[in-house]
Amino acid sequence: MKEILWTFLLITTSHASRVVREHRCISPAGEDMCILQEVFYNRSTTDNVFPQNYSHVHIGSDTTRTFQSLVPILDGQLFRELGEPQALELTYVKLKTLEIPRKLVLGNFVDNSLREFWLEPGEMAPALSYLDLSRNEVSNLTNISSLVNLESLYMVGNEIEHIAPNTFAGLTKLKLLNLNHNELKMIHGADLPPSLIWIRLADNSLESLDAAELKLPLLEYLDISNNHLTTLNGAALIMDKPNLREVFFGGNRFDLATVQKVTELFQRHNVSYTLLDDTEDNEFMHCDYRSKLVDGVCVRRDQIPNGWLKSTGLSVLTVLVAALFGMVVRWVFLAMSK
Ligand SMILES: *[C@@H]1O[C@H](CO)[C@@H](O)[C@H](O)[C@H]1NC(C)=O
Ligand SMILES: *[C@@H]1O[C@H](CO)[C@@H](O)[C@H](O)[C@H]1NC(C)=O
Ligand SMILES: *[C@@H]1O[C@H](CO)[C@@H](O)[C@H](O)[C@H]1NC(C)=O
Ligand SMILES: *[C@@H]1O[C@H](CO)[C@@H](O)[C@H](O)[C@H]1NC(C)=O
Ligand SMILES: *[C@@H]1O[C@H](CO)[C@@H](O)[C@H](O)[C@H]1NC(C)=O
Repeated sequence: MKEILWTFLLITTSHASRVVREHRCISPAGEDMCILQEVFYNRSTTDNVFPQNYSHVHIGSDTTRTFQSLVPILDGQLFRELGEPQALELTYVKLKTLEIPRKLVLGNFVDNSLREFWLEPGEMAPALSYLDLSRNEVSNLTNISSLVNLESLYMVGNEIEHIAPNTFAGLTKLKLLNLNHNELKMIHGADLPPSLIWIRLADNSLESLDAAELKLPLLEYLDISNNHLTTLNGAALIMDKPNLREVFFGGNRFDLATVQKVTELFQRHNVSYTLLDDTEDNEFMHCDYRSKLVDGVCVRRDQIPNGWLKSTGLSVLTVLVAALFGMVVRWVFLAMSK
């Protein structure tokens, strides 16, 4: 009975007095930038008062968790409460619902739990030019198509398996696209906008890439490393791409002949290429059981020169014998010192 009374009291008091929380930017932050900590955004319990007139607002949790924020929803209402900043970053705040405000220019929503997102209803063309949704749970990109002013799109580490044909059709300004660490098995060049300059598709499951379909006259940089590709038509890839500078293609399942042919072609056309991606941890480079990593290329085992395998086999044996010998010595030593 007592407990019920207490609960009742708690409910009535919390209804009677809404909490008002006034947030302040932590210093030092730039003149135009406001960093907020400890924002627990809940419309039904708290009236949040945020600093106004900042063009860049960042709300996050740091990785050591010394401070934390929770913002489960971003929509037009929160955007107005935050003073309609041009750039808004909500990172590591358990964001679940994202209704992209039409006035937002830069959006960084990495490290959240987003599966869906959409554009705020309205008439005005969406201003968004930069969107980072990396490390969320997005599998469906359909709603990207409404963001017609997008120039940079980062979608690293999501769950994208398919890209429907018209997804990027209206994104005529898109220059930079990063889809690393997704689950793509296939990508059709015809579905990518010709405005693209920079594309990363590393660490997916691409099994084939029709290079002739990639009609991207402005392309400078392409990363297709760590996929399941077995062939690559180098000539078709560089065709009609006068600006192409660099291609990353290590960690695939090409045979050595393909790699030699492609690299030679790239050399002749001054396209640099990287077989091993030095900027990333090579732990990510996996070859399947039929293949082995040789100079950044997954080479089928039956194609590895005999001598090479033998010498590896020998060195493994040497290590084993040495380890065994060490154990025996240690055992004898222990037995003697008893
Ligand atoms: C907001 O607070 C109410 C009352 O404490 C709670 O029931 C609700 O789950 C909270 N909403 C969110 C999104 O945390
Ligand atoms: C924000 O700036 C506008 C125009 O510069 C000004 O009228 C307004 O008072 C400012 N608001 C705050 C809360 O500083
Ligand atoms: C796409 O947007 C609509 C609203 O326009 C929304 O209902 C739907 O859940 C969104 N889908 C995805 C996959 O984001
Ligand atoms: C993506 O979501 C939309 C609705 O938001 C739906 O119509 C479409 O079938 C979905 N596509 C995939 C591949 O799941
Ligand atoms: C490659 O670069 C060299 C030296 O910069 C230049 O002489 C050559 O014409 C270039 N070749 C092509 C195909 O652009």
